[in-house]
Amino acid sequence: MNILVTGGAGYIGSHTCVELLNACYDIVVVDNFDNSCMKAVDTIKRITGKDFPFYEVDLLDRENLEKVFIENKIDAVIHFAGLKAVGESTQIPLRYYHNNITGTLILMELMEKYDVNNIVFSSSATVYGMPKSVPITEDFPLSTTNPYGSTKLMLEQIMTDAAKANDKLSVTLLRYFNPIGAHKSGEMGEDPQGIPNNLLPYVAQVAVGKLEKVHVFGNDYPTPDGTGVRDYIHVVDLAIGHLKAIEVRANEPGVHIYNLGTGNGYSVLDIIKSFEKACGKEIPYVIDPRRPGDIAECWANPAKAKRELGWEATRGIEEMCEDSWRWQSTHPNGYNS
Ligand code: NAD
Ligand code: WQD
Repeated sequence: MNILVTGGAGYIGSHTCVELLNACYDIVVVDNFDNSCMKAVDTIKRITGKDFPFYEVDLLDRENLEKVFIENKIDAVIHFAGLKAVGESTQIPLRYYHNNITGTLILMELMEKYDVNNIVFSSSATVYGMPKSVPITEDFPLSTTNPYGSTKLMLEQIMTDAAKANDKLSVTLLRYFNPIGAHKSGEMGEDPQGIPNNLLPYVAQVAVGKLEKVHVFGNDYPTPDGTGVRDYIHVVDLAIGHLKAIEVRANEPGVHIYNLGTGNGYSVLDIIKSFEKACGKEIPYVIDPRRPGDIAECWANPAKAKRELGWEATRGIEEMCEDSWRWQSTHPNGYNS
């Protein structure tokens, strides 16, 4: 099976490419390097010892994207490409809507033209907005609190409508919780540009000495230690979830929706402690006010993915922190180290 991976040079995409190649799928990768670089593509090839076609193409560039479909017989698409920074999306919402929505529309129009009927889409727990309780199941009400989240919810709707109109189309919406960790080799990991927005890369950069201290956003939430609780999932477990989705759902028309999380919640202070253990150093932190828009707790009920896909996360919080540290300590400046 030949799988087109959009955004395959990015954090989750690169780890998924490695798992796909290891499982003997053929892949074709497209990325415009908006938030990644060629070294990530070279690393996928080095880790797996396998080659594949790569196209530096923007999804908004219909003509060049079409060449990918003309030059390769594609059986399924795993669609990671998109802009993902919540805060930035409130400052430049039109760019987020154009990139994420128009890019996906062009991709899906080409899929239709070339009779490609399987898509697995990177959705997010952000589509649950402010959940009324935890753990979250797939049938919870959907809402969003920022333009980034709105692009995910709109794309879920667009893909659902497309599946209703095309009885051959299979759409799998994977709602990721909080991916962290890195490849075991220490050669591949998250490489955020500038100051990280997310907790784990921030903690990792404090541990390696690039940032002074962690700013803990609030310790007055109704949680066991007062700090925010999230469902952190190892990026390799997440990557394997995509293989399961392709294996089980690719040729089943309709819309399939799964939470990809562990079902466990860890607080900000739990993460700092686990990372201290992994790196063998104390991680300085201060308590700051809450970050606007944050929720107290967010974790998944991942039972549907286990039941229907035979998938569950197997890597615990220690392994997530150890693998992040191996990548961060050997690549303090990411792929440019
Ligand atoms: P990432 O930024 O590392 O990867 C996204 C990739 O898409 C990048 O390599 C970027 O260059 C590429 N890209 C963006 N716009 C493009 C375009 N128009 N044409 C071609 N390539 C383009 O992000 P990630 O963390 O790997 O996330 C992958 C997907 O998963 C995204 O859709 C993101 O919204 C979603 N997601 C991520 C998280 C998370 O916390 N990392 C959580 C839930 C969902
Ligand atoms: C985790 C916890 C913060 C940074 C975001 C997106 C979500 C999804 C995953 C894409 C919270 C606290 C954080 C820091 C802190 N992405 N924190 N200091 O907000 O759960 O989810 O990424 O779809 O849509 O919103 O992740 O890593 O930013 O925060 O105290 O410097 O860490 O308050 O409790 P979040 P995060």
